[in-house]
Amino acid sequence: MQKFSVPRGTCDTFPDEISSWETIENKARQVLRSYGYREIRTPIYEETALFKRSLGQTSDIVNKQLLELATSKEEGYALRPEGTASVVRSYLENSFDKKEPLSKFFYIGPMFRGERPQKGRLRQFHQIGVEAIGPNSASPYLDAEVIALAVHLLKDLGVKNPKLKINSLGSKEEKEFVSVWLRGELEKHKKDLCEDCQSRFERNVFRVLDCKNESCRRVANSVVKDFPLSDPSKGYFQFVQEALKSINIEFEIAPHLVRGLDYYTHTVFEITAEGLGSQDAIGAGGRYNGLVHELGGDAKTDFGAVGFALGIERILLASGNTQAASATIDALVIAMDVPGQKQAFKVINDLRKNGISADISYTNTSLKSQMSRANKLNARFALILGEEEMRNGTIAVKNMANGVQENVKLESVLEYLKKKGVG
Ligand code: HAM
Repeated sequence: MQKFSVPRGTCDTFPDEISSWETIENKARQVLRSYGYREIRTPIYEETALFKRSLGQTSDIVNKQLLELATSKEEGYALRPEGTASVVRSYLENSFDKKEPLSKFFYIGPMFRGERPQKGRLRQFHQIGVEAIGPNSASPYLDAEVIALAVHLLKDLGVKNPKLKINSLGSKEEKEFVSVWLRGELEKHKKDLCEDCQSRFERNVFRVLDCKNESCRRVANSVVKDFPLSDPSKGYFQFVQEALKSINIEFEIAPHLVRGLDYYTHTVFEITAEGLGSQDAIGAGGRYNGLVHELGGDAKTDFGAVGFALGIERILLASGNTQAASATIDALVIAMDVPGQKQAFKVINDLRKNGISADISYTNTSLKSQMSRANKLNARFALILGEEEMRNGTIAVKNMANGVQENVKLESVLEYLKKKGVG
């Protein structure tokens, strides 16, 4: 018989682990709302062309990692590798630019990349992301807010010592100029670059700067101290730094930080954490002013956009927050025979309708084994329907913490439990 397993690079999340996920998601929602961000949910797949246009034809994600769905359409659909492109698509499709000066969205959900799996690198992973988009909204305070929010969130989620690195790539036009400049600077060292970087040199020269190969690192360090940006771009970046300092966010300037997606302009950042091994980026983001136009935004409007995404699996790894949560239940109703089972089934229904978590043993087993199940479930009360209780129209209520047992009229059991603070 064929046995099936979970697809490579994906995993099941078991009931014991769910509470860690819920804690992260709930805390994140609370913090994100306190910064004025509202949740958006977009489909997990989009037209492949949306990702190609947004992330860039030369990016690794588009070149190697898009998980495309087989459809009859000529240019089909792909599972989303990230959230920014979908949010901008939805922003434009639903004319948010006409409704509000600045839209602050957040999302929490699965993303998909056909990567080679390793620790902290999955094919289905989950991100918490934000995108702030609006006409004339480019303000260094917004860059600083988004960066501060990412750091704040990570610390609140239990990540110790997150390290923030920032850089500026300049405007969209400057990026063109900088890439020509960079090619010129690297030309004489081309032979020292790794095979991948030889082809990156032509396709997307910026990526040479974040290659991990020792020889490429040496070339990058000797060639690039910082990018030759215009005074307004330098001024903007300086302003972002001042704003970060004013709220005590520590950072390091990383002149080789370029990010792997084409849409970034001006401020880019990456946050690393200890305990993640080689995949140490726990979150990243930046400004992407050009993308809204690229996806069809009104040409006469000057759109600003900035955002980030944090990887939930990496947050769990870095915070060590993987302890199994023990299950708890308010009441386990124990029946000793078939008529008792019939009554127990009605009792749990009544309790559940009144907000009390309750369960039964679905098969008739001994009192001892049902009591041991109550212990395993961490039940606060065991409600026992024995022969005598059935005869008298009562139920024996046992407090599992102190062992005290009382007989309660069947019709008063709900009131009794409520009085004990249950539900
Ligand atoms: P990214 O750097 O590609 O940026 O991903 C952000 C975070 O998602 C990473 O720092 C990492 O924690 C997590 N992540 C990425 N790939 C994987 C993977 N294969 N397995 C596990 N975790 C992963 C973006 O996605 C941009 N959309 C961020 C952004 C939003 N920029 C502006 N707005």
